[in-house]
Amino acid sequence: MRRSLIDLDDLSAHEIEYLFERTTAFERKAPSRLLDGVACVNMFFEQSTRTYTSFNLAELRLGAQVVNLAPKDLSLATKGETVEDTVITLAAMGVQVLVVRHPEAGFPKRLAMAFDGHVVNAGDGAHAHPTQALLDIFTLREEFNELRGLTVAIVGDVLHSRVAHSTMLGLIGLGVDVVLVGPECFLPTGHAIAGARIERDLDAVLEHAHALILLRIQRERFETMPLTDAEYVASYRLDHARLSRLRPQTIVMHPGPYNRGMELDDSVLEFAGWRYARQVMHGVYVRMAVLDFLVNGQR
Ligand code: CP
Repeated sequence: MRRSLIDLDDLSAHEIEYLFERTTAFERKAPSRLLDGVACVNMFFEQSTRTYTSFNLAELRLGAQVVNLAPKDLSLATKGETVEDTVITLAAMGVQVLVVRHPEAGFPKRLAMAFDGHVVNAGDGAHAHPTQALLDIFTLREEFNELRGLTVAIVGDVLHSRVAHSTMLGLIGLGVDVVLVGPECFLPTGHAIAGARIERDLDAVLEHAHALILLRIQRERFETMPLTDAEYVASYRLDHARLSRLRPQTIVMHPGPYNRGMELDDSVLEFAGWRYARQVMHGVYVRMAVLDFLVNGQR
């Protein structure tokens, strides 16, 4: 089986450090054609703006041959072909990289077991989103340099967030004090907390956190909203009053898409510490680093 990236624990701390060095290098100078002639197929079974576009740009900037397969184009959708037979077919055409997003947790892993090539998980259900975690951690590194000892609050619908899962996995491994903040119905329990602290009161963490990572409520992952929007907003929306209680150097991040009026109001978008655009920009370079690493190995 070739090297794939399904979740952040597929990478050692040393490899994450290497990926960040490469990300910085790609950000500083024009990319070379490190994936010249490498065929990459992007299969997105769920909507995406950021991840889809940035993987496309990363592949094109590295000189790859890029094919985008929408679910409606796949024979497995209507003609009974299995996932396993689909990827065997793609490998026979010389496809080396599959980037996959799917609503089902575990789907990219299934592909990786069958595919003679590299699979990159671009988000599977509520399970994992490793490249988003890498770009989030890279953004924190750019800001603070040393992450050990920082307090990072991940705020909102943590339970259904694959981003929260992967990002906290990475941050805890790097010695960050991770606080999961939200109403009880949106907080994980048991082993899923993975060494993070739990806090139900956002106002209790504002003066201590070095960074807040806000999350969208993942309404597509549950049937009934367990509290009213007004109740959520009253306790968890970051607004002007709450921003004024942050430490001077605190930054605010969001993986996107963000919902104005729910987890944040417009004052956050004008806040000096709002880092969303940096995150999105880093997404292209991080994904270039990941693709180069998987296909060409560590230099
Ligand atoms: N952050 C993120 O995964 O956004 P998209 O769903 O637009 O890719």
